[in-house]
Amino acid sequence: MQHFDIVLALSSIAISAEGARASQQIERLRDALAKTDPEQAAKLGRLLSRSDRRQTMAPMAFEEMRATADAARRQLQGEQLTQSSPLPTDRETGTPLARVIFPGSTLAEPPVLIAPLAAAVADLLEEWNQAEALERLGAKPNMRCLIYGPPGVGKTKLARYLAHQLGLPCVEARLDGLTSSFLGTTARNIGALFEFADRYRCVLFLDEFDAIAKARDDAQEVGEIKRVVNTLLQSLDARNGRGLTLAATNHEHLLDSAVWRRFETRIEIPKPDAPARDNLLRQFLTPLDLGVIEMRLLVWATEGMSGADLESLVAAGKRFLVLHGSEGVADSRRTGLAKGSGRGRVLLEALRRQAFLNARLFQEDRRAALIGPEEAFDTVLEVAGFTQTEAGALLGLSQAAVSRRRRRTNG
Ligand SMILES: Nc1ncnc2c1ncn2[C@@H]1O[C@H](COP(=O)(O)OP(=O)(O)OP(=O)(O)O)[C@@H](O)[C@H]1O
Ligand SMILES: [Mg+2]
Repeated sequence: MQHFDIVLALSSIAISAEGARASQQIERLRDALAKTDPEQAAKLGRLLSRSDRRQTMAPMAFEEMRATADAARRQLQGEQLTQSSPLPTDRETGTPLARVIFPGSTLAEPPVLIAPLAAAVADLLEEWNQAEALERLGAKPNMRCLIYGPPGVGKTKLARYLAHQLGLPCVEARLDGLTSSFLGTTARNIGALFEFADRYRCVLFLDEFDAIAKARDDAQEVGEIKRVVNTLLQSLDARNGRGLTLAATNHEHLLDSAVWRRFETRIEIPKPDAPARDNLLRQFLTPLDLGVIEMRLLVWATEGMSGADLESLVAAGKRFLVLHGSEGVADSRRTGLAKGSGRGRVLLEALRRQAFLNARLFQEDRRAALIGPEEAFDTVLEVAGFTQTEAGALLGLSQAAVSRRRRRTNG
């Protein structure tokens, strides 16, 4: 396309002024260009992903964050928690029952969430800004929030991020560490933990929350377990209105229904959808920057993976690149794959390697495609919706060569 630099500049201006509406049209342009000019399409793709990152829960501007933190402090009672406040400990072993993360001590990047969920979470924070307006209606911001979903989707990350954005210290306890084989001790530990959290202005974050429920399954003493659950229920009730309580679990079905009901907000974090995977992959890939087609291949191959899975896949990919890729062109003798050029091929090889080394990571159909014979990549790419030109770019072949191979395999 002629005058592309002007088009790119205009696109950038349009996105900042018009956001989603402009992005939609620029996406159309990117897709149209992908066939004729992959490089220009890649530039538009990068522009879109930058703006995307801004739209999916951008970190709040400093001023905005301070206003939220001030509002949260005004709403909550209690003393100020400092580095020297003594932590609650297990009476028998002396181990601390919680750790405290102070705002500003760590960099809390927002988790990447599917777009509607990101908007809902942003609202949860905004409620604190509007606390006074809420009060006039006899309402309060959300005080008890349960986060659940499959492993590795960012539950812990979201809880820490919320505490950080509210500018409050986060008293973080893993309940699996707090439950003792002696249920009496467990109940006492829960009591001590809540007593500590209630005394200060803070967020209480109960991670691995299902540990309580599991204790109930393992134990024999029915009466004792009831006591543990009752202590938890009473502690949650007593804390209501005093401070924010967040809990996270992989096993929400194990939770006692009375405990479940105590949470007014229950956020389910699902596995990331395609746009969220694209976003996460780009974050983890930094400083590497892949083109539009390569990103599409990655997003396709990672269907069904969690954020943590994507992170480990990218880490493995970077190791592969250092061992086998030189300036983006793989050494065909060492990988055993036929010669070809381009980053697409290195990427395919890296994915194929992981499909062998980390078999469970991939969805079955994706894995079967990746570990098949190399000529089969063509078919795979066709099924995944890549045009002949795109497949050619990935495999380092001309469009004519891809066309010939496809005719041959398709009979
Ligand atoms: N949605 C996400 N956004 C950004 N990073 C993520 C996301 N999901 C997972 N990750 C990455 O994976 C790591 C693990 O995430 P996290 O511990 O928050 O998951 P979890 O849902 O609490 O997992 P578990 O069920 O094992 O406790 C994070 O440190 C982060 O690097
Ligand atoms: Mg977790």
